[in-house]
Amino acid sequence: MRQFPFSRSLMRESSLQAHDLIQAAFMIDEDDALEQIPSLPGICRLGLNQLLQTAEACLELQIPALVLFPVVSENEKTEGAEAAYDPDGLVPSRVYEIKKRFPELGIITDVALDPYTSHGQDGLINEKGYVLNDQTIDVLVKQALSHAAAGADIVAPSDMMDGRIGMIRKGLDQSHFSSTMILAYTLKYASAFYAPFRDAVGSAKALGKADKLSYQMDPANSDEALHEAALDIQEGADMIMIKPGLPYLDVLARLKETFKVPTLAYQVSGEYSMLKAAADRGWIDEKRCVLETLQCFKRAGADAIVSYYAMEAARWLR
Ligand code: PBG
Repeated sequence: MRQFPFSRSLMRESSLQAHDLIQAAFMIDEDDALEQIPSLPGICRLGLNQLLQTAEACLELQIPALVLFPVVSENEKTEGAEAAYDPDGLVPSRVYEIKKRFPELGIITDVALDPYTSHGQDGLINEKGYVLNDQTIDVLVKQALSHAAAGADIVAPSDMMDGRIGMIRKGLDQSHFSSTMILAYTLKYASAFYAPFRDAVGSAKALGKADKLSYQMDPANSDEALHEAALDIQEGADMIMIKPGLPYLDVLARLKETFKVPTLAYQVSGEYSMLKAAADRGWIDEKRCVLETLQCFKRAGADAIVSYYAMEAARWLR
């Protein structure tokens, strides 16, 4: 059966297409900007016009959705992350601009406080630096509402507070945003693979030597993942997501097998940078390695994949 392309294709069990991919993009408060991120070669912090070009390119490439991450200047970062729910802030205004021009492109926003906190944590902290679950949720609900009001199709809480999916769902429903979807970062592991992302949004410097072990998941655990997923689904998540991707495919497969709900995987910044760095040195064939990797996410059970490679991969798949 493996001897011809035709017979191989007859027995192929999973497929990879542009519509399985979601592009991740960083945005800054400039009209025109293309700021390089040294630890994420090829990915830039985008000004408004470059962001709109990216949105248009996604549509052309048949990438269904874009996930947006704000880069906030130092002087806007505070203890209480007030800028996170400013209705005229960077995220709502960019969502509004993209949806106005490209209404058919799905827009996903990140709900978490780390780009906005002076300490770089995803939530509010006490004097000992401990992240406060319930106080944080109140702010996350306001943040999600500000995104929904601007037209975000999907809000994606990436903070890992307990109970935030239910509270965000309730907040959205009470404010007449009952059709705004929730993509839960259900399993966000306390991973070292996020380092280039933290450079990109500037939370690395704010975070200093602190870590996120008190709320993100222990990479050693997989049963705990099932409990987390059960809670998020029960609380109203429309989709669940696991990150990082490749080192956690066993957990992804268990999740999909157990719950059979829409399950996404996030090929995170460190995964992208590893592939780029090896490819830049000529050690691996970038196109083949990236497409193989993305294919493996699908085989393991991902319905869609968030990736910094989405646009490049979609071009290769043409
Ligand atoms: C934080 C957030 C992180 C990522 C997405 N949302 C990083 C973190 O927890 O510090 C990482 C994504 C990536 O590495 O590409 N809310």
